[in-house]
Amino acid sequence: MLRSVFLAAARSSRLERLVGAVPASRSLVRRFIAGDDAEEAVATARGLVDDGLTITVDYLSAETTTAEQARAVKDQYVALLRRLKGAGLTPAAEVSVKLSAVGRRLDDRLALEYASEICAAASEAGTAVTLDAEDHAGTDSTLEILFELRKEFPDTGAVLQAYLRRTEGDCRELATPGSRVRLCKGAYSEPESVAFQDALDVDKSFVRCLNILMSGEGYPMVATHDPRLIAIAEDRARWFDRAADEYEFQFLHGVRPEEQARLAAGGNVVRIYLPYGHQWYPYLMRRFAERPSNVTLVVRSLTQRQ
Ligand code: FDA
Repeated sequence: MLRSVFLAAARSSRLERLVGAVPASRSLVRRFIAGDDAEEAVATARGLVDDGLTITVDYLSAETTTAEQARAVKDQYVALLRRLKGAGLTPAAEVSVKLSAVGRRLDDRLALEYASEICAAASEAGTAVTLDAEDHAGTDSTLEILFELRKEFPDTGAVLQAYLRRTEGDCRELATPGSRVRLCKGAYSEPESVAFQDALDVDKSFVRCLNILMSGEGYPMVATHDPRLIAIAEDRARWFDRAADEYEFQFLHGVRPEEQARLAAGGNVVRIYLPYGHQWYPYLMRRFAERPSNVTLVVRSLTQRQ
């Protein structure tokens, strides 16, 4: 129930103005977001890399409705990748890209062209790109663009969402040599016809997908904060005899930092998803939807005066 309230709030521009206008919400935002610009993102990434973590940086842009906006997002990523290289943060830092931000909802060919330019900049910087998963209506075109990109940039990563009924099949197709696949539960509000609605069913799907990816020939990227699923992933890595550099764990910046440190200290590759940019509001609401107990943080930030 609260999950759908937050997912609806993510689309409310009135609430966005209200939260943005409260000074105290600043510290709340900083818990999950690296900052407003690439310079702050690089500085935060530097601290995390110094702590033994790896990074995937996400630029939070406004909804892309024109080709000019799509080009501006592409330019932002190209400049970011140069900065990451200049700061000596590649290959530890890669980038995550939403194809809708580079024009997928306008024209698939435009999104492919801009995503290719970002992949070329990543390759030049000695690192890679992962394509974020969005709502189910875009899954087919995202995977088609992924296959095109992988012809020239085979290390381009995919994201699969365990809540989608189709995902076990997608895991089978993508568990191939060199294929980087991030497995997450899924963060959007999806209908029963395409997605499991019950949390236990999503968890069971996650484990089935994990088994396929861990027993396959690709590179699984296990993106969950769920202690039970992390323990199962550790177990499967042992069971399928995967060396520490043959899979990785991924966390959102600001979530369960003690668990991030524990896994890294145990010799695991741990990658932090690090968003930056002015358009942090929908991202933050999706994080609250995942953990409704965070509502107390929102209420406190809206009622505090400072
Ligand atoms: P779940 O939500 O069940 O949480 C398990 C436990 O983790 C909670 O009990 C709590 O302790 C802790 N926790 C989880 N979220 C928290 C939060 N926000 N604040 C504080 N504690 C929290 N989704 C998508 O649709 N497309 C994508 O491309 C991505 N990409 C992505 C990258 C990375 C690196 C991660 C970690 C996640 C994503 N996601 C995503 C989001 C994902 O689909 C999912 O919504 C969240 O990870 C929350 O699900 P969990 O697996 O953590 O389990």
